[in-house]
Amino acid sequence: MRSRGALVLAMGMVTMSLVWSVPVKAENEVEIAEHLIELIKIGRVIVSEQMDNINDASKADKGFTGDYMAGQVLERFRKYTKLDLRIPNVVPQANLYLALVQSEKEVVDEAQPVINRAGISFKGFIPAVFAQRVGDQFHKKFGVHVKLTSIDYRSANNKPDDFEAEVLRMFGDSRHPKGKPYVRSSMVDGRPVLRMMGPEYVSQTCLTCHGVPRGKLTVGGMKKDGWKEGDLAGAISIVLPLK
Ligand code: HEC
Repeated sequence: MRSRGALVLAMGMVTMSLVWSVPVKAENEVEIAEHLIELIKIGRVIVSEQMDNINDASKADKGFTGDYMAGQVLERFRKYTKLDLRIPNVVPQANLYLALVQSEKEVVDEAQPVINRAGISFKGFIPAVFAQRVGDQFHKKFGVHVKLTSIDYRSANNKPDDFEAEVLRMFGDSRHPKGKPYVRSSMVDGRPVLRMMGPEYVSQTCLTCHGVPRGKLTVGGMKKDGWKEGDLAGAISIVLPLK
């Protein structure tokens, strides 16, 4: 099989500190994609939970640091997958996972001046922006695309391509088993890749911005979507280069 063998995502990279070039069996590739998606989703939920804190104009130091983010991501990932990434090399691909957590940490660290600014409420550091920044960083380091997408996208960055639009429609179908990711191997720019999408559902903390009544303006001036808890919000889409 073409995708069997080593996955070398680190090729041509300058950042060598967290290079991931461990040979991984083909069966693992699906698991890797699923876990990377999970790590992003967890980070987004954490940012969503922090919105009131982040947008609190009455205080400066919010205590929402990169370390807090990383600690929470690792803890929740462990609960969800039973994999404790704090144990060295708990799986061969642990360094790749940790690199994504590192990007999540860095994005929160870099946003500290904004997050900790007193006197203004809406700061624009929202889950969508977080996902985009983490995705950009991770892509620069590893050539792996991770992106938030949705049929009714607001930001052009989240616009689904043809494949993503098709899968999003499938996720929206009531016959699709809730939570089940979709995976397909394909070619991008003449190279074999694994494409996976993991559906993302609306949780309580998303409702301040995406909830009811539909059309009502949120603190950031966006129109609410009228979503309810448990509705399909969108998906995280990943493109993993294969060797
Ligand atoms: C503070 C307000 C806020 C919260 C809370 C929030 N979002 Fe969003 N969300 C936005 C905005 C604004 C966008 C538009 C994208 C942008 O501006 O970059 C967006 C974009 C999205 C998108 C991509 C579609 C688009 O419009 O581009 C999805 C999917 C999404 N959010 C799901 C969620 C989920 C799921 C949660 C809860 C875990 C959540 N959001 C929490 C404000 C919010």
